[in-house]
Amino acid sequence: MCAKVTTAIFPIAGLGTRFLPATKSIPKEILTLVDKPLIQYAVEEAREAGIRDFIFVTSRGKSSLEDFFDVNPMLEAALRKAGKTDLLNTLKSTNMDSGHIAYVRQHQALGLGHAVWCARRLVGAQPVAVILPDDLIVGRTACLKQMVEAYADTGGTMVAAMEVAPEQTSSYGILDIAEEHGALVRPRGIVEKPAKGTAPSNLAVIGRYILSPRIMVHLNRKTVGAGGEIQLTDAIAAELAADAGSVHGFRFAGERFDCGTKAGFLQATVHLALQRADLRDEFAAYLHMATTRKPGPVVLRPVTAAAG
Ligand code: G1P
Repeated sequence: MCAKVTTAIFPIAGLGTRFLPATKSIPKEILTLVDKPLIQYAVEEAREAGIRDFIFVTSRGKSSLEDFFDVNPMLEAALRKAGKTDLLNTLKSTNMDSGHIAYVRQHQALGLGHAVWCARRLVGAQPVAVILPDDLIVGRTACLKQMVEAYADTGGTMVAAMEVAPEQTSSYGILDIAEEHGALVRPRGIVEKPAKGTAPSNLAVIGRYILSPRIMVHLNRKTVGAGGEIQLTDAIAAELAADAGSVHGFRFAGERFDCGTKAGFLQATVHLALQRADLRDEFAAYLHMATTRKPGPVVLRPVTAAAG
């Protein structure tokens, strides 16, 4: 039986320049989808998958994330005193258990593989999950939980996989498929951001991984790959070359939003807002109006429902 996956790495050292000026003074991971920071969705997914230890690979300018995951005794006391139990519970859901959260600095932006490697001493000789918070995956069962369940049978290394449009393959890690069994894909190769027209398939790696400790050994070599960066995909390719059956792709159930782009971030916002009982009706009515109205001045009508 393979070891349980109880630790996750969150590589969040990126500058988030696509979201400037918002990211001038706040980390991209604090940007909110409806009313929750992007990073909190990733943490909740990890918790649902049984993760107990959280490692954030950060960089300069990310210290507000540490405050976000800290207990805020004054705010908790104020909400308790006011009897606002729901808000108090929401607030407490962002607290982390002492000793189960660690921050590691990636001092130079040398790539995703390097970011993961920066956490090696905290991980040791156990399998570790990696969650890229930019990839928001919404579904009935958390994507990482689905993977952890499948991994209990496969062991080794596992990557989340999803078909993308052929013209998008050059933005992803791409699997060269050897065999498929239900949701599991056995690749014969994996390539990071293949040049246009050279992708072996359009099955892309999405930002959820379960890594065997051997991946850190490959990352130790610090091989530079696509874009002049140390790529996690290349370490997985090296593992595949060393042991053909040890890497699996997993076609997860769920909808994925690329929150690393403005369009994806907005789509995720709309999707999540429409799932919320407290927002759905008013928001859906607005969206309908906004997408069907003819060009011209907007006539604002008074809101009749009581303001909350
Ligand atoms: C990273 C990985 C890539 C993967 C992608 C998923 O790329 O390097 O293999 O397909 O995440 O979102 P990035 O988006 O950081 O360029």
